[in-house]
Amino acid sequence: MKATVTAHRDFTISDIDDRLYSAFLEHLGRAIYTGIHEPGHPTADKNGMRGDVAQLVRDLKIPYVRYPGGNFVSAYNWEDGVGPVADRPTRLDLAWHTSDSNAVGVHEFAAWCETVGTQMMLAINLGSRGLDEARNFVEYVNGPTGSYWGDLRKKNGHADPFDVKLWCLGNEMDGPWQVGHKTADEYGRLASETAKALRAFDKSLELIVCGSSNSDMPTYPEWERTVLEHTYESVDYISLHMYFANRSNHTANYLALNHKLDNYIGAVASTIDFVQAKKRSKKKVTISFDEWNVWYHSNAADREVLDGHGGWPHAPRLLEDAYNFEDVLQVGCILNTFIRRSDVVRIACIAQLVNVIAPIMTEPNGPAWKQTTYYPYYFASIFGRGTALQLGVTCPGYDADVADNVPYLDISAVHDKTTNTIAFFAVNRHATDALELSIDLKGFGKARVIDHQVMTHSNLKVVNSLSEQNAVVPKAGSGVTVDGDTLTGKLPAYSYQMIRVQLS
Ligand code: AHR
Repeated sequence: MKATVTAHRDFTISDIDDRLYSAFLEHLGRAIYTGIHEPGHPTADKNGMRGDVAQLVRDLKIPYVRYPGGNFVSAYNWEDGVGPVADRPTRLDLAWHTSDSNAVGVHEFAAWCETVGTQMMLAINLGSRGLDEARNFVEYVNGPTGSYWGDLRKKNGHADPFDVKLWCLGNEMDGPWQVGHKTADEYGRLASETAKALRAFDKSLELIVCGSSNSDMPTYPEWERTVLEHTYESVDYISLHMYFANRSNHTANYLALNHKLDNYIGAVASTIDFVQAKKRSKKKVTISFDEWNVWYHSNAADREVLDGHGGWPHAPRLLEDAYNFEDVLQVGCILNTFIRRSDVVRIACIAQLVNVIAPIMTEPNGPAWKQTTYYPYYFASIFGRGTALQLGVTCPGYDADVADNVPYLDISAVHDKTTNTIAFFAVNRHATDALELSIDLKGFGKARVIDHQVMTHSNLKVVNSLSEQNAVVPKAGSGVTVDGDTLTGKLPAYSYQMIRVQLS
């Protein structure tokens, strides 16, 4: 089967915002405790943070990590996580039916972010709390000493403001499961007034208002319109979330789901345009897709804790999806979609980062390892920075539940002018046939292939586990060459590839 692609130097989508490769860590399950934080672990640093995990995170060069939730944030008191650790209260977490010692709070998280070379993106509780706590938290984190909250931060060991720019105004406030769930009008008003107060403190903050929790919500996309009508002039981004699942074990339908993602982004982009036009505004709100991932493998195992039958455990195993090879293809397609919509999606966060629906897993007092999905995320984060190219793609397709004529080839390309390279990220969705790929490189001059990584496996369901950590890893590919202006190569059935080309 043939797939032909045209890439032209001047046909671009957008300069990609590096924050597209951000991540998310929530006080949930073992994401924090025995995930990033495990004081007794042989690799722990002086703050009790695991060194092995920090290294795997550092390698990903993640620009921002969203924290501390998620559903958790909607009943979280940030004050519980500051001050001497011994004095911090253990609280019941209503979102996940667990308890939290608060041994990690904003100071510990900030230190960890510095260690791993990332920045904080903080979420504010607009569920059980409101404007006053929001402004107190922001003043505590960013305010000057010589004022109440700045002085308290100094007393707690950090005189300098943390200088956090990105703030989420609540989490999934459209969701009936959320503590403090609101209607679009109730939330829109609260978010607007909260944004006004935060901007009175610091105009340069970047604020993210909650959009829909997913595109199946009954309130979508009316929610976006209403919330944006309340907040358009005072926020910068609208947050979207989407999780992917292969519940009926139908790979072709599963791998077409990024078409649903694409429609979701398109509809919200149009809603932004609608509200912008209605407001006669010159401002452009964009999208922060701050939760995305595959999430379904662990659903059945989680019921016991989530239904409250296990009491209030501290850091239980929750949402510990073991990702298989099929999920590599899915994550590759999702990241391709974000690259192709990088004109409107400026921030995206893989949810989550460690143990909880995560590319990195840990064993308490044991090793940390890479899940299968670590790799497509790694390749996109490291080589997907620059300008997204508008590709012309011709390839046969198939009809799926969410869309017709889904091309077997899913591809994106990023031109990095600083290194004068192009990275292609390609997924072959065909179960049995290789794709004969031909890419016409127009206007780039001479080109040669400098890296070609392939992920493929005879078993779609194989996972990386504690006992078998490298069952699915990328391998150096072969046979991709450039002759004149044409790159050619063969993409095996069900495969993910990253191909880098040096221009001269
Ligand atoms: O990432 C897991 C959960 O998914 C988050 O807490 C919530 O925001 C979403 O529903």
